[in-house]
Amino acid sequence: MEIVTDYLVIGSGIAGLSFALQAAKTGTVAVVTKKEKAEGSTNYAQGGIASVFSQDDSFEMHIKDTLESGDGLCHEDIVRIVVEEGPARVQELIAMGVQFTRRGETQDVLDLGREGGHSKRRIVHTKDLTGREVERILLERAAEDDHIQIYENHMAIDLITKSKLIRRGIIRSERSETCWGAYVLDIDHAEIMTFLARITVMSTGGAGKVYRYTSNPDIATGDGVAIGYRAGAKVANMEFVQFHPTCLYHPLAKNFLISEAVRGEGGLLIDRKGNRFMEKYHPLKDLAFRDIVARSIDMELKKSGDECVYLDISHRGAAFVTDTFPHIYKTCLKYQIDITKDPIPVVPAAHYMCGGLLTAPYGKTNLDQLYAIGEVASTGLHGANRLASNSLLEALVFARRAALRSADELAAKKDEPLPKAPQWDPGSATDSEEMVVVSHNWDEIRRFMWNYVGIVRTNKRLTRARTRIENIQEEIKEYYWDFLVTQDLLELRNIALVAQLIINCALLRKESRGLHFNLDYPSKDNIHWRQDTIVWI
Ligand code: FAD
Ligand code: SIN
Repeated sequence: MEIVTDYLVIGSGIAGLSFALQAAKTGTVAVVTKKEKAEGSTNYAQGGIASVFSQDDSFEMHIKDTLESGDGLCHEDIVRIVVEEGPARVQELIAMGVQFTRRGETQDVLDLGREGGHSKRRIVHTKDLTGREVERILLERAAEDDHIQIYENHMAIDLITKSKLIRRGIIRSERSETCWGAYVLDIDHAEIMTFLARITVMSTGGAGKVYRYTSNPDIATGDGVAIGYRAGAKVANMEFVQFHPTCLYHPLAKNFLISEAVRGEGGLLIDRKGNRFMEKYHPLKDLAFRDIVARSIDMELKKSGDECVYLDISHRGAAFVTDTFPHIYKTCLKYQIDITKDPIPVVPAAHYMCGGLLTAPYGKTNLDQLYAIGEVASTGLHGANRLASNSLLEALVFARRAALRSADELAAKKDEPLPKAPQWDPGSATDSEEMVVVSHNWDEIRRFMWNYVGIVRTNKRLTRARTRIENIQEEIKEYYWDFLVTQDLLELRNIALVAQLIINCALLRKESRGLHFNLDYPSKDNIHWRQDTIVWI
C-alpha cells in the first residue's frame, strides 16, 4: 500500500506531535508511531521543562548552567536559541491546555522546581507527571486537526532516498542525497507500506534499550539514528550516553525513574549505613551535574560491593512528599517502599542519548528533505552532558523551527512531481524459525554494552565490545535478508548499529569529558578534543 503526504513524521512524542501541529497549517501530515500513540519517553517524563520564568533568573544564567553541564562541547549559539525561545514555547503549551502546577493564593504563578546543575528554580512541571500531561494535550490537539493522520503500530524501517531510486533506475543521478519518505512495517497486518513524502521528520526518541538497565520505555531502540545513518545522514557524539543517577532498584520494578526533582527538593543520597557521600565528589553535592553524581554512585558501589545506594526525602514530611511526588510515592508503595518514611534504593541507569543525527539550527540533517528533532537529534545544545530538563525544551524549540523551515522547503517544491517509489521487495525471505537467535543477540548486546561501555570505560573494554559487536553485525547481515521483517528483528538490527556507533565514537575520543569517562585518558584535553565526534557512511 502507498500513502502520499506532504509531511511524514516518524514518532509521536513531544517532538513529533509539536512538529505535526505546526506543519498541519501548511500541508497534510502522516504520523507513524511504532506502538500506541502515547508510548514514548515523553509520556514518562517526570521533572519537567527547564525555562526562565522567575524574576531572579535570567537567560544568561540558564545559558551558563547549560554550558557548564555540557563540559565545553555545547554550541553556544544553539544554547542561546533554545534558552531564549523556551518561554514562548512553554506558553504555547499552556495555551493549548497543558495544566502545569501553580502556586500562590490565586494559583497564578507557575511553581518552579529545581534539579541538578541549575543555579535557580526554573523547572516548569505538572507534579511528577509532566510528560503525561504534555503528551495528553498534544494528542488531544492533534486528534482535532483534520490534516493530521496518526498511524499506530507502524514502524519505520528505512528511508526512501534518491540514491536508492537511482540504483533502481527511477531517477537520474545528482550529487546531493534527498529523502522521499520511508518504508514502514504495519505491525498488525505484517505488511510493508510505502510512505512517500516531500518532507520527512525523524522524531523517534532515544536509545536506552541498547543498555541492560535503563529508565527508557521499550520503544527506545535508537531506530532514528540507525535509519538515518544507513541512509547517509551524519551522526554526532554518540559516546555521550547519559546515565540517570537514580532509578528504582527493586527486582520487580522495570525502568522506574526517581526524578532528580527529589534531590532538588532536599533528597539526600546515602549509603547502606546512612552516610552521605556526595560531598566527597563535588561542591554542589547531591545537586551536582548528572554525570558527576552517576559516576560517584558507581564508585561508591564498586568500593562497597553493595548493589544500590539510597535516596532519602523522608525528612521533608509526609504531606510535602505525597503532594509534590504523588506518582513516585504511589509507585514505590506498590513495592512496599514508603518514601515518606524509608530511603529509596536507587542505582544509575541509561537514560538519555546526547548524540544523534547531526542537525543545523533549523533541525535539518545533511540529507535534503530530512529533518531530525527531539532526542534523536544532535543539535549542539547538550554538548558532553545534558542539563536536566533541557530535553523537552529542546524538542519544543526545534519542532517549531523545523516546521517553519520545512514549510518554506515544501512551498518551493510543491509543484515538482514525486518520484515513483518501488514497493518493498521481500525477495525470498521466509518466516523466521530462529527467533531465539534474535533474542539471544538482543540480550548479548545489552549486557556487554552495560559492562564494557557504561559509566566508566577503558580501551580494553571498548575494544572487547567492538569485537563482539562486529561479530553480531556479521550474523545479523547473514540472516536479515533471509527472514520476513518483524519488529524484533528490525529493532535488533537498529540497536546493533547504534551500539556500534557508541563504541566507535567512544574509541575515537581519547580524553575524558562529561559523560565519556575513560580510565586510560582520565583528563580532559581541550587542545585536541574540544570538538564533536562526527561519523557517517
Ligand atoms: P519520544 O517521546 O521517546 O517519542 C519517540 C516516538 O518515536 C514514539 O512515539 C515511538 O513509538 C516512536 N518511534 C521510535 N522508533 C520508531 C520507528 N522506527 N517507527 C515509528 N515510530 C518510532 N526530559 C526532560 O526535559 N524533562 C524531564 O522531566 C524528563 N524526564 C524523563 C523521565 C524518563 C523516565 C525518561 C525516560 C526521559 C525523561 N526525559 C526528560 C527525557 C525526555 O523525556 C525525552 O528526551 C523526550 O521525551 C524525547 O521526546 P521525543 O519526542 O524525541 O521522543
Ligand atoms: C528527572 O525527572 O529526573 C528527569 C529529568 C531529565 O531527564 O531531564
